[in-house]
Amino acid sequence: MDSFEEFKQKVKDANDIVSVVSKYQTLNKKGKTWWSNCPFHYEKTPSFAVNEVEQYYHCFGCGVSGDVFKFVQHMEGCDFYDALKILAENAGLAVPDFGGDGKDAERKKEREQIYAVLREAALHYVKNLSLPDAKPALEYISKRRLNNEVVRAFGLGYSLGWNEVVDHLRKRGYSFEIMQKAGIIDKNQRGGYYDVYAKRLIFPIINSNDNVVGFSARVLDPNSNPKYRNTGETPVFQKNECVYGINLIKKLRRTEELKEIIIVEGQMDVISVHKSGVKNAVACLGTALTPNHAKQLKKYCNKVVVCFDGDGAGKKATLRSLDILVSAGLDVYVASMPAGIDPDEYVLANGVESYRELIADAKYWVEYLIREYASKYNLKRAEERNLFVVSALNIIKKLQSNTEQNVYLELVKSLSNISMDVLRRDLENIDNVKVEDTEQKDKEENVITKENAYVKAVKFVMGALLHKKDYATLNDDVKDNLLDSDIQKLYDYIYDCKQNGKTPIVSHVFDLFNVESNPIINDIVNFNFTDSINNEGYYNDCVKLLIRSGLEIKQKEIANKIALESDIDKRKELSKQLSQIILKQNQLRKK
Ligand code: UTP
Ligand code: MN
Repeated sequence: MDSFEEFKQKVKDANDIVSVVSKYQTLNKKGKTWWSNCPFHYEKTPSFAVNEVEQYYHCFGCGVSGDVFKFVQHMEGCDFYDALKILAENAGLAVPDFGGDGKDAERKKEREQIYAVLREAALHYVKNLSLPDAKPALEYISKRRLNNEVVRAFGLGYSLGWNEVVDHLRKRGYSFEIMQKAGIIDKNQRGGYYDVYAKRLIFPIINSNDNVVGFSARVLDPNSNPKYRNTGETPVFQKNECVYGINLIKKLRRTEELKEIIIVEGQMDVISVHKSGVKNAVACLGTALTPNHAKQLKKYCNKVVVCFDGDGAGKKATLRSLDILVSAGLDVYVASMPAGIDPDEYVLANGVESYRELIADAKYWVEYLIREYASKYNLKRAEERNLFVVSALNIIKKLQSNTEQNVYLELVKSLSNISMDVLRRDLENIDNVKVEDTEQKDKEENVITKENAYVKAVKFVMGALLHKKDYATLNDDVKDNLLDSDIQKLYDYIYDCKQNGKTPIVSHVFDLFNVESNPIINDIVNFNFTDSINNEGYYNDCVKLLIRSGLEIKQKEIANKIALESDIDKRKELSKQLSQIILKQNQLRKK
């Protein structure tokens, strides 16, 4: 029998990516590449390219890429194993029972049961809404000025009582155990089970693969507590990852150009603005925004507008979320609500056009923060004005370009009445302080994470090797100076291929790495060889730079280690390594 890896390879070989993609959309061949509109984002001209020789796809519009498994996963909204099954069937191959990962198989089966019971419960809650007993819920829905269409779009439902859904699910053959694991029921003191969301208006929480993963349920009786009851942690639901409305964003993005995603605080806000026609809003349910949330949003859009409630809590949540969103590499804007109002109330009171204007007028995060600081200080007093300027400059120094910095220096100038010359000088001084701590950080973090000349050279050299440019040749010195273990692994793959008379193939890189989550590998796979640099001379320069910088980085690291090492023997060993590096550097200089 094949090993799992062998079987996977067999399935991959049996499924030509061009014919698999063609099942979903029409491809047109131009030159060596097949093209179509991207199935993952809206576009008018095709930028989705399928490479038949290398057996992978890449969208030049939204940047996604992958092999045939990834494509099926994304199109079907399934995991790797299901994609494997689909493609095996496609090729007429029976999937052997790989006993080895029994635990995984069990876990997957449990997750599937949980999804099934959640879906059944959600459908049941929806059906309840049409019963006469649903009067309290229907009254509430109309009081909130929702309509049928939006109730259906978000799958709202109603729980009739403590046992009703439990009985229904039992009849359908679901065990108490699985209902409890899904977070639908809990045990009462007498040992019986009850519906956790009893008598509440039900908001199903749906993930990007259209699975119901949990519920948020609102009380209808204003005197009851808590206002919302949400599913706790379950095998399919983690609240620090869940983005309410992400399923609709994913759909929207396939049919329209998604310019930005609006982040609001509550699900009622998402639903209410959606009803009014603003369909690009999401919420993080009852929890502070996390890097996980940010990462998910980034998959769909680069720009976000934070539009939290106009109260103290909303402002605090805004300030906390900015750092997370900016660090995730998003373009972040802030739209401020009037005091005491949330987006739902705003749209109802002022109409959707006014809300759209407010979103269009959202301030870039830098301006938002500077104005926030300005409002905290009394700028008429010299010492407070000084504190304001320091806080503002600390934000401005994070900006990349002088042009961008100048825009916000002008703002600080107008708020503080301090001249541009003085502000610029202060900014430079702040920069000097900053240099020290980035250097410190560089030592701690992996050296390769920064986009510098070294990384650029690594990307070009590895890109040229992987994409088989005829000027790209293997070189032991290159290998020795790839400082990142993933890149070394990629080099070894190419090296092994050439040793064994095989041709490296891009599609295989997706077997070795999670390409999407490694930005450098991602750039190598999708390297864009523009004419100006696509040549032997540039390649040789990059090789030289890669080796020289690699040695320099290693030299610095070892010198640092020596300075900190007290053990004599270890110091000797390190010194030996250091002199070897210096020797190598001298040899290269003579060449
Ligand atoms: P809000 O209190 O701002 O609620 O909480 P809201 O969205 O305006 O709700 P309505 O308009 O009164 O119906 C924001 C979010 O915090 C979570 C919910 O997800 C809510 O949408 N929350 C709030 C809870 O999880 N539990 C609560 O008891 C309250
Ligand atoms: Mn509200």
